[in-house]
Amino acid sequence: MVTSGSQQALDLVARAVLDPGADVVVEDPAYVGALQVFQAAGAALHPVPLDDDGMCVDVLERRLHAGLRPRLVHTVASFHNPRGVTLAPERRVRLAALAERFGFLVVEDDPYGLLAFDGAPPLPVAAHSDRVVRLGSASKVLAPALRVGWLTGPPELTAAVERLKQCTDLCTSSLTQAVTADLLADTPWFDAHLRALRTAVASRAAAFTAAVAERLPDVGCSIPTGGMFCWLRFPPDVDTESLLPRALAHGVGFVPGAAFAVDRPLRGAARCCFASHPEDVVTEAVRRLALAVSRRAPRALHAAT
Ligand SMILES: Cc1ncc(COP(=O)(O)O)c(C=O)c1O
Repeated sequence: MVTSGSQQALDLVARAVLDPGADVVVEDPAYVGALQVFQAAGAALHPVPLDDDGMCVDVLERRLHAGLRPRLVHTVASFHNPRGVTLAPERRVRLAALAERFGFLVVEDDPYGLLAFDGAPPLPVAAHSDRVVRLGSASKVLAPALRVGWLTGPPELTAAVERLKQCTDLCTSSLTQAVTADLLADTPWFDAHLRALRTAVASRAAAFTAAVAERLPDVGCSIPTGGMFCWLRFPPDVDTESLLPRALAHGVGFVPGAAFAVDRPLRGAARCCFASHPEDVVTEAVRRLALAVSRRAPRALHAAT
């Protein structure tokens, strides 16, 4: 089903399957748009942590064995927003098997998969089970302004989503659908465009991580293999919410970790997007960020993130 961005797909899926109070598993930290949707649906959120290989599926499994019965599990399995990490292949298989065994729906929210730096998008969780709703988007590979996304999933779910979508906006703009379809159907153009995009974002990511290593040596930085984001972990005396205005005064922005927090404050973390600017701008941004950090006022220590 084509939707008005994948954000609408997420909202419609939540409205189709969640009753108020339904248990929903989210990643911690989580994509803010997903948190907003599930909170609006009145869901009870159960955060599961992430490590460098994506969602800790073993933690989820232990909670399921302890009695948790979620209606759905949301995951940004590839090039996570905000953590930048990717769910390992064996965890994808395990998550799909758990969905079959415990009867929940996986929402595989995948706007970044095509931005694999090596040109090989990971095999989706949906390849391992029919209990997966997969969301895709033109936003990160063509333009967010098109507002074209898509959803694939079990037919009874897509039928329910279709009825809800008619209530919401009748249909996604046929003008922007036609533009998107034309661009995607022009295979030689689209393939060359994707190659250029991946090369550009990979090189910007390399510039970003190198600049962080040089300018902010005591800050932990995730090493992305695709997508648009790096997750920074600052030393315990840095509070990224109070650092933000100072960074903005130096002309550089980021999203404080607290914006993605489910039940931990994440005050020492920040999501940085390296994708929108060329390498020299990215490098300069890190220099300014380091300047803002060095000029901060001393703060009380926060809990580790
Ligand atoms: C994980 C994730 N899902 C969904 C979206 C929504 O994208 P769109 O509605 O533009 O397709 C975003 C946008 O940032 C995102 O990061």
